[in-house]
Amino acid sequence: MRIFTALALSAEGQDLLYRQTEHLREVFPRLKWVEKDSLHITLEFIGEVSDKAAAAAAAALESAVLDIPSFTITVRGRGTFPRKGQARVVYARIREGQQECKRIYSEVSGRREREYLPHITLARVRRGVRWPSSGDNRSVPSGTVSVDRVVLFQSLPGPSGARYVKLAEKKLKTS
Ligand code: 2AM
Repeated sequence: MRIFTALALSAEGQDLLYRQTEHLREVFPRLKWVEKDSLHITLEFIGEVSDKAAAAAAAALESAVLDIPSFTITVRGRGTFPRKGQARVVYARIREGQQECKRIYSEVSGRREREYLPHITLARVRRGVRWPSSGDNRSVPSGTVSVDRVVLFQSLPGPSGARYVKLAEKKLKTS
């Protein structure tokens, strides 16, 4: 199965971002928009693993000792990946809270923070579809969102995009 770890966003945060991008979804219906309940901050995409390895990853997350208390991020503006050329991913930029995301990434993945840019994917750009680099200035995501859990998800492919099933979660300490 395909698995990845992510920071979950509060339901209020998901609502806010989803409402703020409603206009964009109307103007660009051919993009693959992430469903409201699926909006998240990916930590580590682990990829295709056996059931046994997924169970081990779930156990590791549940017993992990994370040093970072729950926190809030501020979101402002959009960006695209890759940085050059035709956009493949449209994301909401995380301003405050980058450092916390990076530290959790490092704790959960054991990798260095430098190679990781925390972001919230809003849409994927299908082949043959163009995302104008200027986008549309009317739907710029902006606001404060609380983050209180690390989740291990299974990603299940589906006709209208992937569906994410929670395999394990670890609550951050409340500050
Ligand atoms: P992203 O959307 O935050 O960029 C589940 O598929 C998550 O894992 C996605 O939200 C995506 O992160 C990330 N992901 C999916 N496929 C990937 C791949 N081939 N390489 C790296 N990350 C991937």
